[in-house]
Amino acid sequence: MKVAERERQAQVLGRLLDEAMRAQGNVAVVSGAPGMGKSTLLAALSDQAARRGAAPLVATCSRAETGLAFGVIGQLLSSAAVSQTDRRQIGELIGAAGELAGRVGGLMDGAGELVAAVQAVAQLAGAVLTKLTEHSPVVLAVDDVQFADQPSALCLSYLVRRIRPIRMLAVFSRQEISWRQPTAFQAELLRLPRCELVRLAPLSEADVASMIEAELGSQVAGRLAARFHAISGGSPPLVKALLADHPEPADAYSLAVLSCLGSADPALAQIAAGLAVLGDGEADLGRLVGLEAEVLEPRLASLGQVGITDAGHRFRHPRAIGDPGQPRSAAAGRAARPGRRVGVQRRSVSRARGRASAGRCPRQRRVGDPCARRGRALSDRSRASRCRG
Ligand SMILES: Nc1ncnc2c1ncn2[C@@H]1O[C@H](COP(=O)(O)OP(=O)(O)O)[C@@H](O)[C@H]1O
Ligand SMILES: [Mg+2]
Repeated sequence: MKVAERERQAQVLGRLLDEAMRAQGNVAVVSGAPGMGKSTLLAALSDQAARRGAAPLVATCSRAETGLAFGVIGQLLSSAAVSQTDRRQIGELIGAAGELAGRVGGLMDGAGELVAAVQAVAQLAGAVLTKLTEHSPVVLAVDDVQFADQPSALCLSYLVRRIRPIRMLAVFSRQEISWRQPTAFQAELLRLPRCELVRLAPLSEADVASMIEAELGSQVAGRLAARFHAISGGSPPLVKALLADHPEPADAYSLAVLSCLGSADPALAQIAAGLAVLGDGEADLGRLVGLEAEVLEPRLASLGQVGITDAGHRFRHPRAIGDPGQPRSAAAGRAARPGRRVGVQRRSVSRARGRASAGRCPRQRRVGDPCARRGRALSDRSRASRCRG
């Protein structure tokens, strides 16, 4: 697909690929908030590499597979370029290490035998990947490295420390989320003296204008750019959704918001829903979602990072929380109207405080009522967790 407005970043990766093809191995980290186009950029790089005769080996890390030992290495090695024999040999080593892990617990427990087994996999995987570069340059693209399983991260760490003389470009994408600390492997990558950091920031208004222009022509782009930029916060998937919904934000936009929230952290939907109910009442929001201010603040910042809220933590568009025309979401829709203070809900929070001091679950009614009305976008689990206290 066409990658709009990321030419500079694509050029940096192209230059690193040029160098790697001349046996100056390189490492790059593509960093950006959810939706900023990391996966898209990595896919474009893999396509470019294949066109230029390099072998792309790709892996996508996922939250669900963080505990799956060697899952990422397995994905990389399932590429057609790796011989059956090499794959079988590594598979056997991985099997042995996995068995050991089952017996002695995690790597973090410092079990020497297990560390040695993982190192054996790392060495063999490193040797196999290095051997591949003798036939053709290799581009290793690992998406969402923050979710990499630990044994795979150790293997990759082994490899990138030895990458310089070989024909390989290793690119890792990482989600930028304000409260998430970099993993040890991410920190190591960023410390490598020659690691190139490629950041994907939100699109500027001019960038948004050219995305609109590509779909609707330059006249319309001139008219809509400022509004689309304001509503999307420069997030490419939100701009795409606005284009799909044109002339007014509708289902595609609401869905894109949910998708961005989910890829940042499923729990963010709960905070967004609380914000929808309370408007900008941050103090009440903490009580509503059961989070202390220091935990809540960076998560609120994340809503801004993905382009859903503005600097004042107000939704950039009421459609961010669903269809205000539907009876189920009407209350939350009104609550989410930018800048609106929601007196009724504020009063209900005060009443709930009263109930709390009388020993009843403080959150059950005040959250349950409005959230139940727009229940589709809210998880029952999140509602239940609010009543823990
Ligand atoms: N620069 C861009 N131009 C057009 N569409 C883009 C761009 N960047 C991202 N997108 C679109 O936005 C969505 C999210 O992009 P993705 O690469 O998955 O983001 P990330 O991996 O950073 O979360 C995808 O549908 C993608 O097609
Ligand atoms: Mg991605």
